[in-house]
Amino acid sequence: MAVTEADKIFKEFREHSAAEFFKKNRQMLGYSGAGRSLVTIVHEYVTNSLDACEEAGILPDIKVVVRKVENQHSNNRYAVIVSDNGPGIPKGYVGKALATIFAGTKFHRHIQQRGQQGIGAAGCLLFSQITTGKPIFVKSSTGRGHAYSCFISLNTANNKPIIENMVDIDEEFIGLSVEGEFSEIRYESGDHGVLEYLRRTALSNPHAKISLVDPSGQELVFMRAVEKMPERPKVAKPHPLGLSANDLLEFSHLSNSRKISSFLTDTFARTTPNKVGELKDADPSIDLDKDPKKMGWDDAEKIINAFRKVKWVAPDASSIVPIGEDQIKVALSNILNPDHMSVTQRTPKVFRGGVPFIVEAAVTYGGNSGKKDDDGYSGNILRFANRVPLLFDSGVCAITQAVKGIDWRRYSIDIESQPVSILVNVSSVYIPYSGVGKEAISQEAEIVEEIKLAVMEAARGVQRYVRGQDQMNFNFNRYKAISRYIKQLSKDLGDLTGEDSSSIETKLNKVISKHFPKPKEQASQVNPYLDGAVSDASDKTPVDG
Ligand SMILES: Nc1ncnc2c1ncn2[C@@H]1O[C@H](COP(=O)(O)OP(=O)(O)O)[C@@H](O)[C@H]1O
Ligand SMILES: [Mg+2]
Repeated sequence: MAVTEADKIFKEFREHSAAEFFKKNRQMLGYSGAGRSLVTIVHEYVTNSLDACEEAGILPDIKVVVRKVENQHSNNRYAVIVSDNGPGIPKGYVGKALATIFAGTKFHRHIQQRGQQGIGAAGCLLFSQITTGKPIFVKSSTGRGHAYSCFISLNTANNKPIIENMVDIDEEFIGLSVEGEFSEIRYESGDHGVLEYLRRTALSNPHAKISLVDPSGQELVFMRAVEKMPERPKVAKPHPLGLSANDLLEFSHLSNSRKISSFLTDTFARTTPNKVGELKDADPSIDLDKDPKKMGWDDAEKIINAFRKVKWVAPDASSIVPIGEDQIKVALSNILNPDHMSVTQRTPKVFRGGVPFIVEAAVTYGGNSGKKDDDGYSGNILRFANRVPLLFDSGVCAITQAVKGIDWRRYSIDIESQPVSILVNVSSVYIPYSGVGKEAISQEAEIVEEIKLAVMEAARGVQRYVRGQDQMNFNFNRYKAISRYIKQLSKDLGDLTGEDSSSIETKLNKVISKHFPKPKEQASQVNPYLDGAVSDASDKTPVDG
């Protein structure tokens, strides 16, 4: 038989593993640019530690070490060690957990967590492997005296872990420690560096203690600010309005229900037998008695259309856990030590018809708020999604868009030239990220609007303070101006009237301090945070070293 063009072309046909895909597309997972790649590594391991501790109900104590490694081929080579006091990983799972792409304990759950896809840890391992050829060194203990250590790498051809030198070790600890060597990364200071990433992580996770030893050997510690675990989010059933036909098909094929009707009531939120009846009224051609395993694309599309026609109770927001107003206040005092702050938490809202989310916002003024450089102060925006700081791609983020869209003059605030920080945390089971790198929230209209409202609410609180501050400065300047004349005036009056000039001076002083109280006395009335909370927190020395 003659060889066709197609035969020639398809001789080249190959299957690729997820690992090979990653090798070619590492920028999709945040490995683009040397500075950002290091932050991505730290981010992946630290979020895993936070998730694991949260799940085990342990107050996290996370240690990060970034050490420069001398190497004749590369001067961008570092060792990164992240260790935690979490539940650890059982021996039998460590290879799959840390070295298999798309494997993990979180993917299949409808729960608000930092990790989801099972890409993070294996991505780090691959990055180490393709830049240095070295495996990752892991130590773990699950607490029953079973501590072990091993080296893990990944066979990229079949996406299978390779575990070497697995040994039991005699160490008293519980948790996980991961150590890798990486090239093509760089330790940077400033807004896009590891220290700033951890500082913001501490802000949004005040229940965690986080420390960093940087390449110069200096240790910085963000102390735990609250001794209470955040509430655990509940596992949520998906709301019908958040589904596509494809989602519905996938769910139906996993279902053990006998009929589509019971599959719907068992699987989805707010779907009562009555609602199912309404679906049938909306489209009588839906076959509710069919076996869900046999649901076809056509059936799925009909049901999705019917979902949109009936009225739904809004989704339950118990699956979402925001940081919390009090926690944010303590964290901000601890880390930014502002002269004033105002924090708001909005009630749950919904985007795309059925996905609940909650926005929290804070505006702080003074202290370590904003940024300071040679030209003076400017404001900064601290973006978070499910408590995870977003450092990159700010230009395409819903949070940036919302903050920039506010007319700040209305609040007597100038974010270009004042020491102001604006914190926004968006919490949801499904954060709509704008890319696979998960560094920006996509600009869904409902989300942008809600962020705007939250920030404006917080800004109003600070506005009162800034105005009060202006008034206070005005009063103080007048007080100073008038006091300058008191001595001379009392003396002249004494000479003229023959009265004692010092008693005149005392009386005059009393009169003006009544009209223009000194700023210190006013401060505690205007600003409840200036005296109590801040000095308390600063005693703890949030960042030392
Ligand atoms: N520090 C840790 N402590 C305990 N388990 C962990 C830790 N880090 C990772 N794991 C386990 O490894 C799995 C894979 O992690 P990862 O690849 O980052 O994916 P994801 O976080 O998206 O699930 C996690 O789901 C978890 O079960
Ligand atoms: Mg992860």
